[in-house]
Amino acid sequence: MRQDFQRDFLQEFFDSVPDMIYFKDLKNRFVLVNKAHAAALGLTPEKVIGKTDMDFFPKELGEKYCEDDSAVLRSGKSIVSKIEKAIRPDGGMTYVSTTKMPHYDAKGKLIGIMGITRNVTEFANLEKERLDMAINALTILGKSLELRDPYTFSHARHVAVISGKIGEALGWKENRLLGMRLAGQLHDLGKINIPLEILNKSGKLSSAEYRLVQQHVATCYELIKDIDFPFPLAEVVLQHHERLDGSGYPRGLKGREVMAEARVLAVSDVLESMASRRPYREALGIEKACDELKSGCNSKYDSELVGTAFSLIEQNNGKVFWINS
Ligand SMILES: [Fe+2]
Repeated sequence: MRQDFQRDFLQEFFDSVPDMIYFKDLKNRFVLVNKAHAAALGLTPEKVIGKTDMDFFPKELGEKYCEDDSAVLRSGKSIVSKIEKAIRPDGGMTYVSTTKMPHYDAKGKLIGIMGITRNVTEFANLEKERLDMAINALTILGKSLELRDPYTFSHARHVAVISGKIGEALGWKENRLLGMRLAGQLHDLGKINIPLEILNKSGKLSSAEYRLVQQHVATCYELIKDIDFPFPLAEVVLQHHERLDGSGYPRGLKGREVMAEARVLAVSDVLESMASRRPYREALGIEKACDELKSGCNSKYDSELVGTAFSLIEQNNGKVFWINS
């Protein structure tokens, strides 16, 4: 009697919660779902019990949803507040935050998983709007550089493409790629207050001029550091002239002290600037650019990233792959 009461109480509690709550067995079959979860599938709880996500979604999507369940069962570790896009059975798109944890019986034997999924679409849309506004403002800031210094602007645009392609080849996720491309687009923005006679000078720079040019990383950092991004944009830009052996600037960071995104920028920056024509010299060509990366592989540049860049060039028959992309 007491057990029945407890079960009814729990079911009532689950059904009154607007979040989707579900228990699955070791074969990913639903053994208990609340009304919110069934309603999200457009069904009653009875129609969901005994089925798996494969019964409600296309094969690829169903497999994706089961992947995390299997990872929790394998590792015994919970996945907490994972935010992802979810496609409803009617094809509509939502953003959800999901927590999944292993579920044990009274004897401590693993019997499945328990999941709680919250619809966070409204919050995600607000965040996206905020981020879009910040990106638009930065794009305008980047374009203002074009009016004064079209070469640096076009270099930055190409570096953004190269960095994005390297990130894609490494399997980085959407948000990380967005941050990577934005960092590429903005990395030389700090040159905005360097006299054009110095930026375009064809001879060797004096040490005072070189120090001034080096300032561009700190200038850009100062310009964007207070903008609230979900990725460390200002820090990546600040590090794009750091080199693995500590020979870079401004802080002489070494090895893994240099963020992965900044290591990608370093490779993309060298590749583009050597392969392209600059206002103070003709293009040195892609072969020379590759020679520089090869000679600095491991000492200055990350060998995995150099290898990735070389593969992208190879896939494009040895030609630049960032123009008109
Ligand atoms: Fe730079």
